[in-house]
Amino acid sequence: MSADHIPLPPPYRIKVVEPIPFLTPEQRREAIEAAGYNPFNLRSDQITVDLLSDSGTGATSSAQEAAAAMGDESYAGARSWFRFRDEVADLTGYPHLLPVHQGRAGERILFSSLLSPGQICVSNTHFDTTHANVEIAGATALDLPCREARDLDSAEPFKGNIDLEALEEVLSGPDGSRVGLVLMTITNNGLGAQPVSMANLEAVQALCQQFRVPFFLDAARFAENAWLVRQREPGYQDWTPRQIATRAFQLADGCLISLKKDGLTAIGGLIGLRDEALFAQCEANLIATEGFSTYGGLSGRDLERLAVGLREVVDPAYLASRAAQTAALARMINDAGVDTIQPAGVHALYLNAGRLLPHLSPSEFPGHSLGCQMYLDGGIRVAELGSLYLGELDDSYQVVEPAPFELVRLAIPRRVYTAEHFEYVAAVLGAIAKDPERIRGYRIVSAPPLLRHFKVRLTPIG
Ligand code: F0G
Repeated sequence: MSADHIPLPPPYRIKVVEPIPFLTPEQRREAIEAAGYNPFNLRSDQITVDLLSDSGTGATSSAQEAAAAMGDESYAGARSWFRFRDEVADLTGYPHLLPVHQGRAGERILFSSLLSPGQICVSNTHFDTTHANVEIAGATALDLPCREARDLDSAEPFKGNIDLEALEEVLSGPDGSRVGLVLMTITNNGLGAQPVSMANLEAVQALCQQFRVPFFLDAARFAENAWLVRQREPGYQDWTPRQIATRAFQLADGCLISLKKDGLTAIGGLIGLRDEALFAQCEANLIATEGFSTYGGLSGRDLERLAVGLREVVDPAYLASRAAQTAALARMINDAGVDTIQPAGVHALYLNAGRLLPHLSPSEFPGHSLGCQMYLDGGIRVAELGSLYLGELDDSYQVVEPAPFELVRLAIPRRVYTAEHFEYVAAVLGAIAKDPERIRGYRIVSAPPLLRHFKVRLTPIG
């Protein structure tokens, strides 16, 4: 009998390991209380499984570390820059490339050159720092997610798309002349890790050309988007993930990439551009604020790791294994009685906390309550994406306008955890789902005016 039908294990084995701590329930209770019930305030040595972010948290390969040993730290014109530049130019096709230390530095530099006060940046969904940097440039961030995204349970394949009708309406309407940029986030991190189809990107390109508006990609997870296109969009089954990614970059006028995700490194980012005048403006800003244009705040060793990582990340065996790992975790969690946004993405799963904890109102922050319980019961760290993060609050921290959904994101670091870690996460959640009514809500004790979730402090109700 052939073994063709047997799912393959991950295409790597483990050579270097890092111990993880197991705290007692009492130690966890003390730790989260001292953290003001904010997981951002926990120390990593208080966490057993850390699913807070997939950003900069991946494992590097032996090939990346070997390349890093060849890093050239010359201030200008380092060999490592040319290696990195050639790799990125080949992948994206953009003639002008600027390295930055991470994604948000690219956002700041690009938006301060491209957007003027009073302009609008339209997106399928802005990531939070992207949104903040648009507003810091004096412009307004407008999200136009597709309608399918509103149904968390539907199995529609491309719920990361932009609503094309709404985009055309804005571009052809009274505010059309104020649109300074259309930015498509692939995959859509703010909306359930859902992918964007090539058809959607092509339609955005056509509209942007018609209305003469620059079209950029926020391509932090370009390889994972390409993988889901290959799996789900007719016509791409014979394309490699790399070919699909290159085609996506080709459709746009430029890109921003946080390379902490699909660069398979701890740090790094990139601006890709076609326009020479815009490049000159961004380059001047880069040199003043990040570093010379052949390193942009990165070490030669980082650039070497990235040049290799950008090849490894489009390997179909790697992407298949990563997608299968997330899908398996989704199945285990769903079987345990906790719903997740469907269909499963690749870099993260989003738990429907509002549905699991109907006894908690949005003003008791059900997503946050579920996240805290995962820490209290299992030492698992996750991120709330509900009314604590996105809701509108008054001066006494009461919810005035709740978020559309009460979600919890389980972000999956790349090449870090094994199937047993995910079985453990599903078991902890399964135990919570057996008796959800024991979970209490939380109220805010103090919160900063901006980017609330990072520094907020809370206390349990009752
Ligand atoms: N764009 C997207 C789509 C992102 O997900 C992120 C970061 C950024 C831009 C900013 O990049 O962190 O390198 O400055 N996302 C991380 C996360 C933090 O956990 O989702 P950065």
